[in-house]
Formats: sequence, C-alpha cells, structure tokens
Amino acid sequence: MRTILVTGGTGFIGTHTAVALQQKGYNVVIADNLSNSNEDSVDRIEKITGIRAEFIKVDLSKELECKLLFETHNNIEGIINFAAFKAVGESCEKPIEYYKNNLGILLNILENMKKHNIKYIVHSSSCTVYGQPDKLPIKEDSPTQFAESPYGNTKQMAEDILHFTTQTNNIKAIALRYFNPIGAHDSGIIGELPNGIPNNLMPFITQTAIGKRKALTVFGNDYPTPDGTCIRDYIHVVDLAEAHVVAMDRFFENKNKSNLEYFNIGTGNGFSVLEVIKSFEKTSGIKLNYVIGPRRAGDIIQIWADTQYAEKELGWKAKKTLDQMTLSSWNWEKELSKK
Ligand code: WQD
Repeated sequence: MRTILVTGGTGFIGTHTAVALQQKGYNVVIADNLSNSNEDSVDRIEKITGIRAEFIKVDLSKELECKLLFETHNNIEGIINFAAFKAVGESCEKPIEYYKNNLGILLNILENMKKHNIKYIVHSSSCTVYGQPDKLPIKEDSPTQFAESPYGNTKQMAEDILHFTTQTNNIKAIALRYFNPIGAHDSGIIGELPNGIPNNLMPFITQTAIGKRKALTVFGNDYPTPDGTCIRDYIHVVDLAEAHVVAMDRFFENKNKSNLEYFNIGTGNGFSVLEVIKSFEKTSGIKLNYVIGPRRAGDIIQIWADTQYAEKELGWKAKKTLDQMTLSSWNWEKELSKK
C-alpha cells in the first residue's frame, strides 16, 4: 500500500481528498498545524472510510519541524500539498505572512523530498495565478497576468519554484489550478469549516442562512458582468478531491509528459455571486438575507476554466452541478448546527 503525505489534510479540500485517497487504497498520513481546521477532521474521515489516518500536528513552515516529520516517516511515496493560507482578501492585509507561510512550506517540503528521495508532489495551485484574464475560458497555456493579490502571487511563485526545482532534481510535480471549491461530502460528515468569520462566499451564505451571521455582504454589484457581480467557476469539492487521486495515480502509472504539469480543475462554467445565491435559495428553500456592499480588494471580475486539457490528459471531468454544490453546503451547515 503506497503512503501519501497530505499536508493541510484536516482542511476543507484536504479532508475530502484524504477520503478519496483511502477509498482508492492509499495509506494516508496527515500533517497540519490546525491554523484553519480542527483535529476532529481525522475522526470524521475515519467515520466515512473506517480507516484512521495517522495525524501529525506540525507547522511545515518551520524548517526543523518539517525535517523531523520526514525523518520519522520514511515510507512516504508521494505528497499532496494543501498547506497554505488561502484567503484572497486577507492576503491583501497580511502579504508578508502569506509569502513566509505559503512559500516556506513548499521550500521545506521540496528540500526534504530531495533529501529522502521522494519523487512525486501534487501541489495545490490556483486559478488566481492567471490574475484577471483577457480571454475566457482560460487555458493552462494562457498567459498569467500580474497577480491581483499576494495570495495569487504566492501561487504563481510556487509554480515558478516547482518549475526550477523539478528540472534539477529527481522530482516530478503536478500543479492543480483550482477554481472555486465549494460544497461538501454527501455524508454531511465533512465540509468547509473555516475558523472565525468566513472569507469565502459559500460558508458565509450558509452561516447567514443558519443564523450565525446577520447578513451576507455582496462585495460589489458594479462590475462589468451581466448582473454586476463577480463571476467564478465553482467546483464541487468532491470532484476536486477526485482530481487529486487521478493526479497521484498518474505518477505511479508513469503517464507524466514532463517533470511539471499544470491542469485547470474547474467545471468550465462561470456563475455570478447572485446566481450562487439564487441556486442556494432554490435548493435550501431559504430566502437569503444579503446586502450589496463595496468591492473587496484583490477580487478579479470574472474567470472560468477551459477544462479540455484535464479531460483529455487526466481523463477527469467535474460531474456535479451548482445546485448539488449549494445543497450539499447547506446540508453540511445543518449537520454542524446539530453539534
Ligand atoms: C468568491 C466571490 C467575492 C465573500 C477563492 C479561494 C482561493 C482560490 C480561488 C483556490 C467573489 C464574493 C465573497 C463574501 C462576497 N481557490 N464574496 N461576499 O476570492 O474567488 O478565491 O477561489 O485556490 O483560495 O479563496 O473566493 O469565495 O472569497 O469569493 O460577495 O462574503 O464571492 O467578492 O466575487 P475567491 P471567495
């Protein structure tokens, strides 16, 4: 059984990917500093799969902590790196923390991969590497624009680091450029659970609907889009998790065509903030309380993926609809409120 280290594995995408990996027969080891998640995620994963992943609480941005992790786990054959701060708006307020954390983690991991001859890494990248595209849908070889936020810039810099380190070391990498992950596992046992006030749209919608927040603020309705609100390519987190398993399998099946490959992981459909709200109101049966507020720093106007390359090369395609995403997010929020 191959062992995969999932960094940031107690987080939203990490938990869903850990479930998918275990169900595919991989042995999962989770490393997380719990800065934006809870340790009970390990119990929740076990509740779904019946398999308890080993969990190590560690801050991978600290060189010695990272070194110790790899020295005490010599059976790791691949790494999926989720560990990063990831709020676009917050990164504009705390750029230095974002650069130190997100790039420090990656550099420490790569240094230990080289030392321990670990060959494969699937890296959590992001559509934010594209900045505000001139042409949509966006393809993997579309030019990346100057990042609109420090968060997006850390993702661009991470890809540059991977480009050069995979050329000179025996490391192969796949960068998955996520679009907007939302939704939750059908079991209602795992989902998005950010600490504190949510930065992202979907958890803010569900927390407003359940009564934890007074109202959602729509950050601007004066954008040059059909309804004036920003457009994003929302993808169900279960579809996104599956893409990570397919990417990890690609290494062991020796299908890589270069030492660093990039794939857009989206649905190919763009939806506005108001369209997401409309879908939520339809699937939940709840009228959402929202107000229109000022634009948020770092937001781009619109983006959605061209998914042909991922479909052709990975044989992967997102299956779930926006309504399935908003309904599963709502079911998760209701499960949370029972605790
Ligand atoms: C979506 C839209 C907001 C909150 C995310 C991740 C990032 C990356 C890309 C993976 C925007 C609007 C939000 C609110 C709102 N994913 N909004 N009111 O900024 O696209 O970035 O996807 O790497 O990690 O964070 O997502 O959910 O914050 O915003 O109106 O209270 O919803 O302005 O238009 P974003 P988001």
